[in-house]
Amino acid sequence: MSWNRRHLLDIQSLSADELTAVLDTAETFKGVGQRDIKKVPALRGKTIVNLFIEPSTRTRISFELAAKRLSADVINFSTEASSFRKGETLKDTAQNLEALNADILIIRHRSAGAPHFLSRFLDASVVNAGDGAHEHPTQALLDIFTMREKLGRIAGLNVTILGDILFSRVARSLIWALKHMGANVTLCGPPTLVPKRFESLGCRVSYDLEDAIADADIVNLLRIQHERQRQTMFPSLGEYSKLFGVSIDRLNQMKPKAIIMHPGPMNRGVEIDTEVAESERSVILDQVSNGLAVRMAVLYLINGGAVPNASKDSNA
Ligand code: CP
Repeated sequence: MSWNRRHLLDIQSLSADELTAVLDTAETFKGVGQRDIKKVPALRGKTIVNLFIEPSTRTRISFELAAKRLSADVINFSTEASSFRKGETLKDTAQNLEALNADILIIRHRSAGAPHFLSRFLDASVVNAGDGAHEHPTQALLDIFTMREKLGRIAGLNVTILGDILFSRVARSLIWALKHMGANVTLCGPPTLVPKRFESLGCRVSYDLEDAIADADIVNLLRIQHERQRQTMFPSLGEYSKLFGVSIDRLNQMKPKAIIMHPGPMNRGVEIDTEVAESERSVILDQVSNGLAVRMAVLYLINGGAVPNASKDSNA
């Protein structure tokens, strides 16, 4: 098992071996986070820039903390305080950051393809932290890391992704990751947000919540991506919640060991009720904690770090 990539741009192009390499490396870094001294020198002398042109809580902060734990210098680019506001282009901004010796650029941008665009002309490594409705690779990695940690495997699991699939980069990355690793994926939500064409990715599409959750080992809830919708995709939030929101009654209809995941931010009372979000079967905050180890692994590997000795089957 090896990793030979300089960038992390998507999940679609990764193999099961590469995904497993990140998970196994992240497991090692999770151990580092449990020590008294949580810092290692792996990226000492390297400069990492968080170039977030869209808002973020979890991804930006965990990338910053991951870089610091690897002993890198970290710069958080602030759109509001930058020359972006004076009309400077993304290309010029990135080239100026590289001229200041940035080794890794972590970018979140509203336009699909922005990280791929930067990777074509920068010598620095590029990490996609979410590009439009295209992909969010590290979210999918932390999601499958959490599934493997909680349920011991990924291959053969029944995973239901519930909500706004059409506008979700999280859904696209997770679908690729789960299909590469041999899981069974069901997509569920209103027909306007879950087009039948997703079946071509090897997913089952269901518009009936009870049917979609009955056999699930994992139910992953997504919020409505209002910021990317250009028209109303369903009559009201109240109706959405009634038909597709997960309440405690619906949690009780799932298999007794089924777990609840959510990438955040949650809209409580819409796609998820508070009792479900805070129930023992919710692993939502574990996902956030695991994001730190996964992002340490990604930064370490794209900087040329070696994958630790693999002990698990590539489809485990
Ligand atoms: N899950 C996720 O990407 O959260 P943030 O937008 O807060 O980074």
